[in-house]
Formats: sequence, C-alpha cells, structure tokens
Amino acid sequence: ELSRIPHPPRRLPVLGDVLGASRTKPLQDSLRHARRLGPIFRRRVFNREIVFVGGAALAADMADESRFAKHVGLGVANLRPVVGDGLFTAYNHEPNWQLAHDVLAPGFSRDAMAGYHPMMLAVADRLMDHWDREMAAGRTVDVPEDMTKLTLETIARTGFGHDFGSFERARPHPFVTAMVGTLTYAQRLNTVPSPFLLRRAARRNDRDVAYLNRTVDDLVRARTAGGAGDGDLLDRMLETAHPETGERLSAENVRRQVITFLVAGHETTSGALSFALHYLSRHPDVAARARAEVDRVWGGTAVPGYDQVAKLRYVRRVLDESQRLWPTVPAFTREAREDTVLGGVHPMRRGGWALVLTAMLHRDPEVWGADADRFEPDRFDPQAVRTRPPHTFKPFGTGARACIGRQFALHEATLVLGLLLRRYDFRGDPAYRLRVTERLTLMPEGLRLRLERRAPGA
Ligand code: HEM
Repeated sequence: ELSRIPHPPRRLPVLGDVLGASRTKPLQDSLRHARRLGPIFRRRVFNREIVFVGGAALAADMADESRFAKHVGLGVANLRPVVGDGLFTAYNHEPNWQLAHDVLAPGFSRDAMAGYHPMMLAVADRLMDHWDREMAAGRTVDVPEDMTKLTLETIARTGFGHDFGSFERARPHPFVTAMVGTLTYAQRLNTVPSPFLLRRAARRNDRDVAYLNRTVDDLVRARTAGGAGDGDLLDRMLETAHPETGERLSAENVRRQVITFLVAGHETTSGALSFALHYLSRHPDVAARARAEVDRVWGGTAVPGYDQVAKLRYVRRVLDESQRLWPTVPAFTREAREDTVLGGVHPMRRGGWALVLTAMLHRDPEVWGADADRFEPDRFDPQAVRTRPPHTFKPFGTGARACIGRQFALHEATLVLGLLLRRYDFRGDPAYRLRVTERLTLMPEGLRLRLERRAPGA
C-alpha cells in the first residue's frame, strides 16, 4: 500500500530514518523532508512507518469528514496520561467527547465572547503597564514570555475566574514551567525507540503532572467552596447538565478539562501573537497600514467595544498570514473511517492514518504561488480568499474536532494586536534571525522588541 509513497534514501534497520533527524525540532525536520520529497512521503521512525501529507490536494481530500476523522496519535496520544479523555485528547468514540463538547460549546457563543471582552481588555492593560515600565527603563521586551503571561491570565480569568499573577512575577508561573515540561516530554517520546530511555525525564514529568493536577484541584476546590462564578467555563463544567441526556461531567473529567483548557487556551494564542509581532517588526509598511486601520476604526474611543474588534480586517489578515507561515499547531492527524483511496492514488485501510503538515500545506506553491514563503497579508483579502480552493488554510484543524476556541483566540489576538499597534512602535534587532522552538506547538525563540511610545495620549 505504501509503495508509491516516497521516503528519504537512508533506511536503517532499526533506527529507520531518524538518524540525523533533529530531536528538538522534529517538525522542522519533517518540513525539510517535505520540500525534497513532495506532497506525500513516509519516514520510518524506529519500527513505525509514518505517512506525512503536505500537499494541498491530498490534505483537502483528508478533510472529507465522511471518509476521515481525527486520529489521536503521536504527540497528542502522548498527552493521554495527563489529560485522558479531555476534549483535545479524547478518542472520537469516547462518550465524554460529545458530552463535554455539548456542555462547553455555549461557552464560546457570541454572547459568552462579549462577556469575556472586558476581562480581555483588563489583562491587556496589565501587559501595557508592564511594557510601559520596561520601555521607561530602556529595556527591550521578551515577546514570547510576555505573550504567554497575557494569554495565560486571559484564559484563567475568563474561563476560571482565576488570577495567576503572571505580571507580578519575574519568572514564568510554575504552572507554565510544568506545562512546557509536559509538552516537551510528550514530544520527546516520539523521538526515542522506548520510553525506558527517558527514565529521568519521566520522573521530572511525573512531578510536572502532579503540579498541574494540584493547581487545578485547588482551583476547583476554591470554586466549589466559594459558590458559583459568573457562568464561566468552570461553572459550565461543574454545574451544567447535558441539555438532552441530563448527564454531567465527572470530577475526574472536570480535572482533565480544566488542564486542557488552561493549556490549549493559552499556549497556541501566545505563539500566534508572538509570530505576528515578529512579522510586524520586520515589515514597517504592513505595520503602518495596520496602525492606520486601528486609528481609523477605533478613532477617538479610548476603550474599543466588543464589536469594534472584528472590524480590524487588516489586522486580522496580519494574524492569518502569520498563522499561515508558522501555524502554532503545526500538524494534525487524520485516520480513515473505512477502506478508502487517498487522492484516488494511495489505498488506505480503515484505521490507517497520516499526519497533515499544516505548515507545508500553508506553503504549497500550487495554492499560494511561487512566493509562498513571503509574508503578504493581502493573501487574505476577501477576493483572494474567495478564489482559493477550500481546505487550504487550516491553523485550527478541521471538521468535528477542529478548535473549539477559534473565535476566542481570534478575538483576543486581534484585540491585543490592535491595542499594541495603537500604543507602540516596535523595532526588532536587525541581527535577529527567526528561530522556531518546538514543544508540540511552535514559538519564536529569543524574540525581543524595542518599544517606542507613539504620540502621547494615542
Ligand atoms: C483543538 C489550534 C486556541 C481549545 C485544536 C486543534 C487545532 C487547534 C489545530 C485541532 C487539533 C487536532 O486535530 O488534533 C489552535 C490555535 C489556537 C487555538 C492555533 C490559537 C491561535 C484555542 C483556545 C482554546 C482552545 C483559545 C480554548 C479557550 C481547544 C480544544 C480543542 C482544540 C479544547 C479540542 C477540540 C475537540 O477535539 O473537540 N486547536 N487552538 N484552542 N482547541 Fe485550539
């Protein structure tokens, strides 16, 4: 079945194709292979054969929900010991997926989002206070670290009525350190033939997971002791019964959902904001156009209202274009629901699966042109979007298991970019070259910006 799928030339008996592969940057390694081997290829990783799809036509075929579904494999499966049948890691057939999905989806409705808006603004104010102080002290700012503080505080407050106090700390909150440890460990498990080789890392991981659990248990205990919140995600998890079956989430499942949302709800948005700020600092023309839009649309209003955020159409294109080049969730996995033929060429058995390399799909020259590697937000103007084939832009995954927090992330990120563009000019270090770290998600490494306040009172 696999015979028509190309693979790298070196085939070693046990190690497969992993020699020479990067242990810390497996995704960027796969991207290099994809550039050489084309729209579909396979690699042997130890004794497992993994099929990678990066071509737009094949990825679109895999978006067909009648023949394919999410596959919980590789890095996502490695998170099962931590978050089990939480929304992100649940198998399609697990009853808790539908239950939690139905109970939590209203937490992302338009009304719910409008309720989060003032809290998002309050957290953004904390970031800008911090940045004002750094600027006054003549220091540059650490973008990924500060974006992580912002997005963690945002999901913690809007979802759980909790304050981690990130901006009052010199170092990242231990929750973030434990989370990064856990994600990194889950990724490393894919790069060794046996978990036995990671014994020491496994012990550290156990401590990290215990810390995550403790944090979440404290948070839930505080809520149940203190009475209901204001109808936030945690209230929904604890109190809402399924509208049809009347079923509720178990205590164990609530714990898994809280960790899932605290992690999925901030780590990826933080990367998306960081990449966007990198590109804005590198493209003064784009930044000027985005700033002009913010000034025009928000005008004299000191505090933008909920409805004024989605009106920042060009800022949103900047975000989309950054997500195109560096989707912070750089891949997702799909499995065949039945025996089928991928793209009319490659037979697949029921249950067979492949990794869709979003980062490659987003650079397929057949769709994005010969200059696909160039940053150009106008690729997302409505006319250009209309003329592109469907399923060619997938930063939030696809189908029934696509991201539940998409609108939340887009609202938060657009709002924050608008506020930062309005307040600051940012300049990168001309010597900086984009390096991307991987811990299942992507993040620009060592990105610092120098800020200047725009016209006083702006
Ligand atoms: C699922 C990306 C923000 C919660 C996903 C998936 C992707 C993704 C690609 C599907 C993964 C797969 O197929 O295996 C992103 C990106 C974000 C973002 C790029 C930010 C820019 C958020 C936020 C939340 C969230 C803000 C919560 C507030 C989730 C959950 C799932 C999910 C719970 C699992 C959904 C399910 O399987 O039913 N996300 N996400 N994400 N995301 Fe997001």
